[in-house]
Amino acid sequence: ADLGSFITALPKAELHLHIEGSLEPELMFALAERNGITIPYRSVEEVRAAYAFSNLQDFLDIYYAGAAVLQTRADFHDLATAYFDRAAADGVIHAEIMFDPQTHTERGVAFAIVIEGLLSAMAQAEARHGMTTRLILCFLRHLSEEAAFATLAEAEPWLEHITAVGLDSSELGHPPAKFARVFAAARAKGLKITAHAGEEGPPAYVWEVLDIIGTDRIDHGNRALEDAALVERLRTADMTLTVCPLSNLKLCVVDDLANHPIDRMLAAGLKATLNSDDPAYFGGTIADNYRAVAQARGLDRAALATLARNSFTGSFLPHETIASHL
Ligand code: HPA
Ligand code: ZN
Repeated sequence: ADLGSFITALPKAELHLHIEGSLEPELMFALAERNGITIPYRSVEEVRAAYAFSNLQDFLDIYYAGAAVLQTRADFHDLATAYFDRAAADGVIHAEIMFDPQTHTERGVAFAIVIEGLLSAMAQAEARHGMTTRLILCFLRHLSEEAAFATLAEAEPWLEHITAVGLDSSELGHPPAKFARVFAAARAKGLKITAHAGEEGPPAYVWEVLDIIGTDRIDHGNRALEDAALVERLRTADMTLTVCPLSNLKLCVVDDLANHPIDRMLAAGLKATLNSDDPAYFGGTIADNYRAVAQARGLDRAALATLARNSFTGSFLPHETIASHL
């Protein structure tokens, strides 16, 4: 089989996927029409043309605006179902999806609407595709600690359906330590922890996530490579990094995929995984990310299999289930 088919057939877990970032322009138009909402684009082509970003904030502005079409339980259900159907076709057998409740509660869509729509899609995907799924609630780091605490309180009735909390949105100027107390409270409720760090932010932010937050995973982590002591710390901690190559390219974290550090991460003994982040905005699914780095960095099948294996050992599944996937 060719490398593309090998990649699709390789059983994979996706660990870094923002469900709001899986909103394809076609569904954006359909939901805008269904909900009587006006969006500032005339066509799907015009939407795709707007997806040219020079940094993370450029993208976030458009990503938060796009989320405005999401209004009802059915909208969140349809959004997640479209993602799970594509992921299953891509060889994803386990998906841990992130959502940003504050993006929706801030514009008057209730937390219950959001999570009930996502949970029904998760149950349906498990039944239809035989996959497993988990939900990660992300706090928006450009908002306050107080707002994050309010969101954690809103999540209380659904805690048995939430596996972990995460931290996303604008990284620069928002060091992780700002949320140390919220993460401690989440940990006390039995939730796992992950945090975006070292995407645009400096190695110091990755240190904070390790030393002050006490994380189970790091989302991105690219800039950790600038600090040899940090690389050593991540390696000895066996810390999983959820790396997103096409995202890195579109947000100018790397200038060219030919310079992507994924194989340097593996060579340094880091537990890297490959993920799509916001596939509708960054131009590719998880399998597209595997194919893109395989081509750009000349990864062989053994390296790709290692990355897929890391996606299971780095997942929040129970140990016995992980063992059954290895
Ligand atoms: N970084 C930070 N926040 C985000 C991202 C990202 O890559 N995607 C969606 N929210
Ligand atoms: Zn992300």
